[in-house]
Amino acid sequence: MVRQMVVTSAPGKVILLGEHAVVFGQPAIAVAIDLRIRSEVHPASTFTINGSELSGATHPYIHGAIKAQWSDGPLAMETESDLPSGSGMGSSAAVTVGLLAALRLLKGDGMDEKDIAVRAFEIESSVQGRASPIDTSVSAHGKGIVVGPCQAPDFLWHIKKDVREWFIHHCDVPRLNLVVGFTGIHAATGPLVAKVKRYADHTTFARDIIQEIGELSAEGVKRLKENDVVRLGELMTRDHKLLAILGVSCRELDKLVMATLPYSYGAKLTGAGGGGSMIALTDRTEEVCEAIRMKGGTPFVVRAGVDGVREER
Ligand code: MEV
Repeated sequence: MVRQMVVTSAPGKVILLGEHAVVFGQPAIAVAIDLRIRSEVHPASTFTINGSELSGATHPYIHGAIKAQWSDGPLAMETESDLPSGSGMGSSAAVTVGLLAALRLLKGDGMDEKDIAVRAFEIESSVQGRASPIDTSVSAHGKGIVVGPCQAPDFLWHIKKDVREWFIHHCDVPRLNLVVGFTGIHAATGPLVAKVKRYADHTTFARDIIQEIGELSAEGVKRLKENDVVRLGELMTRDHKLLAILGVSCRELDKLVMATLPYSYGAKLTGAGGGGSMIALTDRTEEVCEAIRMKGGTPFVVRAGVDGVREER
């Protein structure tokens, strides 16, 4: 039975440790944040998104969600976002996850985090060219997730692509004071992921860096459980340096990281880099926000560990 209208919302995310390396199957940690994308879907006479005709070229994620999850008649879709696109906070994952959930509910199927996460990963992977399931899985599940190379306690689901595989686990998120600093530069993830792959294909040095990021993420999982913000911060700052060596930071990100470090346990780029955002782990929120503003960035004080995709009534 097709329902008349469904509204869902799905959260954005920040990656605490391990972006890029996770694409190669290394461990990483992500937390859902209280910036969400709401999606409203209802049957209509033509396929539209926010009043414009839906096209695969301009809306590849939405088009991908329809192809993966819908075979009935045309739909009008509206989205409303707290997340700037290309900000490194997972807007494409949140829109894909939110829409897949809305389409399931519209058909009368129940919410199914795992099914949504698996399909959303396939869509993100085909649009970006290469991806890990970290953004889509954390938007589906919410709270925190640890992505690892093998199964451990709190296992949620397993995703495989070519020779790579990822085991997704639930992770409790302690109260963390996180400030996101958006550079204002909208960066596409696909080219950055491809750049790291080229680097890793050609040099053992890059592969060693990826391995080292994986090792510090694995330690980060333990530190997060102990709520050891001092060590977690150190690991984040070290991760930023390694990501910069991989060539995915930029001047604006480095400036925001440097400016916030005096008031933080640690700071790093979050997401794909090349622009987008950085995060600082701090208990001096106001000073960190001011340091970000002084360097031309936009601060967001975020709450981490929020609900994953859900129906809004
Ligand atoms: C982007 O938020 C995270 C990356 O590791 C890409 C991915 O995992 O798909 C850069």
